[in-house]
Amino acid sequence: MRIKIFSLLALLMIASLVLAACGSSSTPSGSAATAAPAANGGGAAAGGTVGIVLPTKDEPRWIQDETRFKDALTKAGYQSEILFSQGDSAKEKANVESLLTKGIKVLIITPQDGAAAAASADAARKAGVKVISYDRLIRDTDSVDYYVTFDSLAVGAQQAQYLIDKAGSNKGNPLYLYAGAATDNNAFVFFQGAWKVLQPKIADGTFVIKNSSAAVELQGKGDLTREEQAKILGQVTTNWDFNTAKTLAESNLTAATDADKGNVFILAPNDGTARAIADTFAADKAVKSFVVTGQDAEKASVQYIIDGKQSMTVFKDVRTLVNDAINAAVALLQGKTPDAKGSYNNGKIDVPAIQSPVISVDKANVKKELIDSGYYQASDFQNLP
Ligand code: BGC
Repeated sequence: MRIKIFSLLALLMIASLVLAACGSSSTPSGSAATAAPAANGGGAAAGGTVGIVLPTKDEPRWIQDETRFKDALTKAGYQSEILFSQGDSAKEKANVESLLTKGIKVLIITPQDGAAAAASADAARKAGVKVISYDRLIRDTDSVDYYVTFDSLAVGAQQAQYLIDKAGSNKGNPLYLYAGAATDNNAFVFFQGAWKVLQPKIADGTFVIKNSSAAVELQGKGDLTREEQAKILGQVTTNWDFNTAKTLAESNLTAATDADKGNVFILAPNDGTARAIADTFAADKAVKSFVVTGQDAEKASVQYIIDGKQSMTVFKDVRTLVNDAINAAVALLQGKTPDAKGSYNNGKIDVPAIQSPVISVDKANVKKELIDSGYYQASDFQNLP
């Protein structure tokens, strides 16, 4: 088990370095730089420390976050370690408890299960520790101080818009819907964002839903309640798991007739599940072509996009999220309120939040957005356009 704790002093150094390195478009930079003298006055030994807990090492997305946190720390000359929950809420709770025992002052956590993690947030609050929900929102508790997130509605909206743009004026296009885990608040937000954009195009006959009777029942409604979304998710969830995604896609294709196939359109929630679903559709002889979405700009999916095996991804620049989290931690350690640009309701309170933009990426702009931007190296890929 590896532990990530770093001092207030380290945080301040990192914050300024990350800000310099990233040239991020997000705003809250001044607080980190101007806060240094006060922090030095308190001294690193005064004990401002931060612990980080991420959901799993098994998905490249969270390795991206680990790498970017480590980069920031290494540049500042510090060793860094992060605790992973490995898809297990009990392990996550144990991770948090061990960090609390070590005297952290701020917890940065991506919950495995948004509702189950409320107990960890409550334990942190009881111990006087500030809680930053990182990427995923902890639900149904008032013990969350701040939320650092991407614009998750835009993630779904960009996926949906991509499908619409590719469908053009053709009607009757077969549409297969897939979603993330119902334990992850983001899965609802992504789906909500996608549905809002797709629904008029389902209503006008551009798309015909092929794999969810609940979605067909609700296809006249643009704004779904959480319960309605949950009904659809219940039929199309991948649980953020590649194997579940593959098995579900296989069973959808087995249940479908050849007339339900042809040139198909697939809303896949993220890159890992997109690759599994794409491979499954590619193996079906009655599928003549498919357009499939994704998100995270995982390296494997970027290569899939270059190779024409996945259509698009939504790029979420994790450097910005790390930067925002560090800035928020620094502010909280200083007893300040981090800059917020709105809030997200977690079922109990409106959590002050900062949100960063996302970018739709396909073969046409992959080089510009992911290589020329310095996010990845050209040598990470073959046959880059
Ligand atoms: C994250 C995605 C990720 C998914 C599965 C979501 O909460 O926002 O980036 O692909 O979880 O881990």
